[in-house]
Amino acid sequence: MTSIVAALGGSLLRPEIDNKHVWLSDLIAIIRDRVTMGDRIGIVVGGGAPAREGIALARPLISDDYHLDKIGIAATRLNATIIREAISEAGILVSGVIPSSVNEAVQLLEEKPVVVMGGTVPGHTTDAVAIRFAIAASADKCIIATNVERVYDEDPKINPDTKSHKYLSHEELQRIVGPAEHKEAGQSSVVDPIGVAEASNAKLELNVLDGRITDRIRLALEGSEFEGTVISSERDI
Ligand code: UTP
Repeated sequence: MTSIVAALGGSLLRPEIDNKHVWLSDLIAIIRDRVTMGDRIGIVVGGGAPAREGIALARPLISDDYHLDKIGIAATRLNATIIREAISEAGILVSGVIPSSVNEAVQLLEEKPVVVMGGTVPGHTTDAVAIRFAIAASADKCIIATNVERVYDEDPKINPDTKSHKYLSHEELQRIVGPAEHKEAGQSSVVDPIGVAEASNAKLELNVLDGRITDRIRLALEGSEFEGTVISSERDI
């Protein structure tokens, strides 16, 4: 039996894009197949547009990032609810509640093959939650499904010539994302640097991929080769 936790970046849920529900139904079909094969899947959903909008609205009035983070967490839980309800509607066995801590999520994953959650407490992003969930559940790996093809040395939107990586060690990824500190609420790097440090300590494999293309999520869940970046501690530098 394989256990995998996947972080779905909130930017993947964009109802303003035509037929975005097709992405969601493709994702649900993939989850159904994996559950049929006996896998256990934890899904941690990011805040995306509602997090960004909520934080931007409140920022002029709230100086403390701790409280802005709480707005971001509420948005992640909204998005998690959308995914959970859609999975449940499809008849897949999924936990009935959105857990508010990693410990609760681990317990629920012992009862049901699928658990969907959002953020937990201020001070990090949902990537870090997914990585903690994967470590605590002794998962085989953690998938970070985001909106870039691979991990790049720099933000490809700023430097289109930047180099991308198919394989990285945890240390190399840490150098790219920076030290294990929480950026200000709503700010993110390709993988949360706090999560990278924890994955490194636990030697947890990370798979970074473009989650807009659901087939890449499927391949990574199956353990097949996928387009993206594999981060592991066994890499020969
Ligand atoms: P996200 O996990 O969505 O952050 O949480 P992100 O990386 O900026 O965005 P995407 O979705 O991957 O593109 C949104 C915000 O919610 C707060 C943080 O402020 C974060 O930036 N948050 C989230 C927490 O404080 N704790 C959590 O556990 C999760």
